[in-house]
Amino acid sequence: MKNEILSVSNLIIDYPRAGKPPFRAVKGVSFNVFENEFFGIVGESGCGKSTVAKALCGLLPITSGSASFKDVPQHAVQMVFQDAVGSLNPRMTIGQTLAEVLSVYNLCPREARTERIATLLDEVGLPAEVALAYPRELSGGQCQRISIARALAMNPRVIIADEPVSALDVSVQARVLNLLAELRQRRNLTILLISHDLAVVRTVCDRLIVMNAGEIVERGDAKTLFANPQHPYTQNLLAAVPDIAEAY
Ligand SMILES: Nc1ncnc2c1ncn2[C@@H]1O[C@H](COP(=O)(O)OP(=O)(O)OP(=O)(O)O)[C@@H](O)[C@H]1O
Ligand SMILES: [Mg+2]
Repeated sequence: MKNEILSVSNLIIDYPRAGKPPFRAVKGVSFNVFENEFFGIVGESGCGKSTVAKALCGLLPITSGSASFKDVPQHAVQMVFQDAVGSLNPRMTIGQTLAEVLSVYNLCPREARTERIATLLDEVGLPAEVALAYPRELSGGQCQRISIARALAMNPRVIIADEPVSALDVSVQARVLNLLAELRQRRNLTILLISHDLAVVRTVCDRLIVMNAGEIVERGDAKTLFANPQHPYTQNLLAAVPDIAEAY
């Protein structure tokens, strides 16, 4: 049986503008996500993906409608962003960054922190020595693994990953996506993956919504949708992805 973990209903989000009427970035979006699902939100730049993501995390006020997680406290919804390198403090080692999360949120007794950090690094496929490194000494892919480890430190139930692989080389993209897919199984996570790139979403998502100009234009399970896109917008998006165009 599928349990609903997130319900979004007629969500509307306006950005205020000085001297002008507000800009409606999200125009009445409804969808639901099930527990342990890998759910995709795709669409071109500016369609409102990040606006939806921020509203889900409580980082943006909702103009009307609702977006609510069922029995998931705020701290158990964690975000992973595109700019992994920029999201890490350059003056702190990876170990210090992770230790800070563990101590601020009181997640682990001081004497157990080193071991906990090693475990977190191992979970994201990095050796324990990485704790001694600074962000500038790591690759983009490694930094994205660290930001995933930082999210995991909070014992999340939901991870919202906003363009987590857009800044990475294609070969590295696949490995980070596989890591997310693995973690989803191992930790029973629900993952919302946001991307402008259909090729990225296609590899891992169970179901997805396609957004255009603040609205959902298509939705469904990934296999069906990619095999037979109904909406001209989705057909165009698919045609614009070379490897997918070849596959169909
Ligand atoms: N703080 C803001 N104030 C006013 N308008 C904004 C603000 N942030 C975003 N917008 C506008 O809202 C719309 C949706 O932006 P959003 O960042 O959600 O798009 P996106 O789908 O995440 O795009 P991208 O793929 O480029 O990240 C865009 O037209 C954008 O210009
Ligand atoms: Mg965005």
